Amino acid sequence: RRIALIGAPIEVGTSEPGALMGPAALRTAGLVRTLSDLGHTIVDHGDVAPDGPADGRGLQAVAAWTRALSRAVEAAFAAGTVPLAAGGDHSLSLGSVDGAMRHCAREGRPLFVLWLDAHADFNTPETSPSGNVHGMPLAALCGEPGFPSLFAEPVPAPLPPENVHLFGLRSIDAGERALVTARRVGVTDMRTIDEFGVVAPLRRVLDRVAREGAHLHVSLDVDFLDPSIAPGVGTTVPGGATFREAHLIMEMLHDSGLVRSLDVVELNPFLDDRGRSARVLVELVASLFGRRILDRPTPAIEAV
Ligand code: ARG
Ligand code: MN
Ligand code: MN
Ligand code: MN
Repeated sequence: RRIALIGAPIEVGTSEPGALMGPAALRTAGLVRTLSDLGHTIVDHGDVAPDGPADGRGLQAVAAWTRALSRAVEAAFAAGTVPLAAGGDHSLSLGSVDGAMRHCAREGRPLFVLWLDAHADFNTPETSPSGNVHGMPLAALCGEPGFPSLFAEPVPAPLPPENVHLFGLRSIDAGERALVTARRVGVTDMRTIDEFGVVAPLRRVLDRVAREGAHLHVSLDVDFLDPSIAPGVGTTVPGGATFREAHLIMEMLHDSGLVRSLDVVELNPFLDDRGRSARVLVELVASLFGRRILDRPTPAIEAV
C-alpha cells in the first residue's frame, strides 16, 4: 500500500496542553520506519498548518485546521494513497472525515466511520459540559446544529449517523447520550465487549461495511486503550481495551481489507511515560497495516 502520513498538531480542541507534540512522538517512536519495514511505501507530508488564524480555543480556531487537513486528506485520496492523520486532539477528525466525505461523494460511495474511543464525541456546543471541541466532532460531522462555518464551501452532505459506529464507549455525557440514541448511532460499549468480546461485534460492523461497498475510516483515540498500557492522553478512563483486544481489532481490520483512511489521535507526549503510549500506538498501526505473527492466516479451528 501507499500511505500518506499527515501530521495534525492540533490542541485547540482540548483544555489539556501537549497534544500538539503527538505527531512528533509518533515519528520518534518509529511510525515511518515500521510501516516501510512492512513493505509499504510511506510518504511523510510533514505537519499541516492551519488555514487562517488559529489562536485561542474553540470553533473558529478549529475551523482553520479543519479546512487545511480536509484538503490534505482529499489530496492524499486523489493520489491513490491511504491518508494517515496523526494528531493532535480529536477535533482533527473534523478535517480528516470531511476530506473522506468529499472523496466518497466524488466516487459515489458511502462512507462508514469506526470510532475507537472511550467517549462518544457527540456533544454540541449546547450539550457540552466542557466546551472542548474534541468532544464534539461526530455531532458536527453528522449535521447537528450549532457549528457555523466549520467546513469549507461547498459543505458536503452530513455523515449519516447510522454510518458511525462507536466502539469501546464507557464515558458519555447526558446530552450526547440522548443524541446518540435519538440519531441511532451504532454502539459497541464496554459492557458489550465484556460480554461478547471484540470479535463478534466488530465482525458485524465489518460485514455491513463490506455489504454496502462503503469506504471505512477508522478513528483511533488513545483513550480507547486502557490507561495501564497507554497513559499518554489527557482524558484517561479506566476499563479500556487491553493490549490484546486492541491488537486483535487491528488484525481484523487489516484482514477485512476495508480500511481506506486512519486517524491516530489524542496522544499527549507530555503526559506519557517514557514514550510508552507512542510505542503501543505504532505497534497497533503496524498490525492494522498487516503485521502478523506468522506469515499465514489464522488456521480455522475445527469443531470437536
Ligand atoms: N465528553 C467530554 C467532553 O465533551 C470528554 C470528551 C473527550 N474527547 C476526546 N476526544 N478525548 O468534554
Ligand atoms: Mn475522542
Ligand atoms: Mn476511493
Ligand atoms: Mn476519548
